[in-house]
Amino acid sequence: MKKINLAVIASLLMLAIAPMMFSLNASAADKNTVNSLATLRDSTPIDRQKEPNSIPKVVNKDIKQGRNYPMQPPVIPHTTRSYEVNLNNNKCMSCHSRHRTEKSQAPMVSVTHYMDRDGNFLADVSPRRYFCNQCHITQLDAEPLVENTFTDMHSLMKEKTATTEQH
Ligand code: HEC
Ligand code: HEC
Repeated sequence: MKKINLAVIASLLMLAIAPMMFSLNASAADKNTVNSLATLRDSTPIDRQKEPNSIPKVVNKDIKQGRNYPMQPPVIPHTTRSYEVNLNNNKCMSCHSRHRTEKSQAPMVSVTHYMDRDGNFLADVSPRRYFCNQCHITQLDAEPLVENTFTDMHSLMKEKTATTEQH
């Protein structure tokens, strides 16, 4: 008899505590939502449609951008709207291929674009480098939505030599 009573009391306690635990969880979740989602929605209430931001323009300054590490595909400094790349056509190569650079004054795709995966040089652009937009992208004239903490190896090395010199 005593055992049953204990079990009943325990389950009653659980029933009483469970809603409290759920509400604690819910408030933590609410906080997260406020921190992550609401910033992109500019704190617009969840039941309202936010006035959409205007679509930023593609940077079209024709000026080379810095590369953040040696193997980074350079970003595209011009618009690429309506430049088709498909089975029959590669608009990018009409300016960037070896025999078009003189006329277009575009930089030639580098030799890596003519290499197959075994390092052999092919006569034409390699199939694995055919779809340019897989690796090269245009940039938008916009502020980043989230902070980027990427540090260039060059700066890391400088910091390191500075700290080792101090000791
Ligand atoms: C009408 C000619 C033309 C076409 C088509 C073209 N480009 Fe370019 N591209 C250039 C020129 C010229 C430059 C040199 C910078 C400038 O003037 O914009 C350049 C620069 C670049 C660069 C920067 C290279 C560097 O060293 O920083 C990349 C990457 C690039 N283009 C990729 C592409 C891709 C991908 C496409 C197809 C979606 C494409 N381009 C189509 C003419 C062209
Ligand atoms: C698989 C990824 C990849 C694809 C696909 C690709 N590229 Fe590249 N591209 C790179 C990388 C990485 C670099 C920089 C290192 C190098 O030259 O290999 C580069 C460099 C370049 C450069 C600068 C060359 C130089 O010497 O400064 C141009 C221009 C370029 N690519 C254009 C193109 C075009 C046009 C296409 C499509 C026909 C294309 N790329 C496809 C990865 C790619």
